[in-house]
Amino acid sequence: MSERWKTSRELLKRASGALAGGVSSPFRAKFPVPLYFHDGQGSRLEDEDGNWYIDYTLAWGPVILGHKHPALVAAYRQAAERPLIYGAEHRLEIEVAERIQAMVPCAERVAFTSSGSEAVQLALRLARAHTGRPLILKFEGHYHGWFDSVLVSHHAKLDEMGAEEAARAVPESSGQVANALENVIPLPWNRLDLLERVMAERGDQVACVIMEPWLMNSGGIEPTEGYLRAVREVAHRHGAVLIFDEIITGFRMAPGGAQSVFGVTPDLATFGKAVGGGAPLSVVAGRKEILELMFGGGVSFGGTFNGNPVSLAAAAATLEILAADGGRALRETNERGRRLMEGMRAAAARRGVKMLVNGFGAAFALHFTNTTELKSYRDVCADDAERLRQCLFGLLERGVYALPDGRFYLSLAHTDADVEETLAAVDAVLAAI
Ligand SMILES: Cc1ncc(COP(=O)(O)O)c(C=O)c1O
Repeated sequence: MSERWKTSRELLKRASGALAGGVSSPFRAKFPVPLYFHDGQGSRLEDEDGNWYIDYTLAWGPVILGHKHPALVAAYRQAAERPLIYGAEHRLEIEVAERIQAMVPCAERVAFTSSGSEAVQLALRLARAHTGRPLILKFEGHYHGWFDSVLVSHHAKLDEMGAEEAARAVPESSGQVANALENVIPLPWNRLDLLERVMAERGDQVACVIMEPWLMNSGGIEPTEGYLRAVREVAHRHGAVLIFDEIITGFRMAPGGAQSVFGVTPDLATFGKAVGGGAPLSVVAGRKEILELMFGGGVSFGGTFNGNPVSLAAAAATLEILAADGGRALRETNERGRRLMEGMRAAAARRGVKMLVNGFGAAFALHFTNTTELKSYRDVCADDAERLRQCLFGLLERGVYALPDGRFYLSLAHTDADVEETLAAVDAVLAAI
């Protein structure tokens, strides 16, 4: 293997003697070697071997302003001059909660947590408390964090899931409690008929229907026309809570998330990643009477780092920029992303490669597939993983860094020049594979 990543390989070897697996998240233990970084600026990152990349991973999403945005650096500096954490109230909590309330349609009330997985757990508990029902209805291929209760039918194999009409709940981890599966009903996404049928049979036991409103964890699949609105109608008809997991779409697709773009307001929504601009912060937002169940309604909730000043300082700076000028910056970023998607499609057509590019602009994913349309996770199971690996490796060699599942994220710092440079790399790689 090339000497290009020599230092990263050496560091991984050393790390493996102390850190389990040598990395802080198994998702990062990827080909060709987990890269070790030490600096970056704007849309670019530099690894320990001195290679520079256009960064389309953005730390798996959070870095919405780009690396070392001056407003974020200043916010951190100011926060560092004060106590890092109080475990008590402070003004930034109010400021950021009010800001989110103004930006996000469903946010009658807001609660702060630290990770996306944790925010989802709170939302599920609230939904169960509100309805007095046990079951979660989720969709295949959608990811809602790594906890036992929802790590079900995320990236299961096609033959494990059973027929679409009789989808089986598939566990995703050894060590996961088996009875978690009893509380989850998995369904193929974008199939309203199946949702109607299951809700007619078991709807009186379903606490919530949870989904990524744009399926980014399985390759950037969009909801079919009218689907989100119809799901809300079905959920409400059966007395279930609708939860949008906007941990990727939130503060990325638009300042108000996917719910503002599609005009469909869920009862609860979870946010993470971009909301903190890179700091660990997540949010549950939604209807007042559901969130207020934590205060006098018997729902237990805690967290040492909830609402910590450092993360909220980062969020305040980030959200101010995203909200400015009617959300112009995110609009432009999504437009730039769509130009990049179009350019990639054109390169694939030019080079005679069957490749789909799916997403909404500021987040999208590549698929090497003979399929012409992707509607649910089952459709992406036919993707050619080896071709994707070759493509991502070729891009990495040319200084374009994307996620191992073929996902690309754009930040406000990505420029038209980045897009042009990326398209030249994509063209060269597609010509070679
Ligand atoms: C849609 C969605 N929900 C939940 C999570 C879990 O968030 P975290 O990794 O911060 O726990 C993720 C993470 O990628 C996600 O994409």
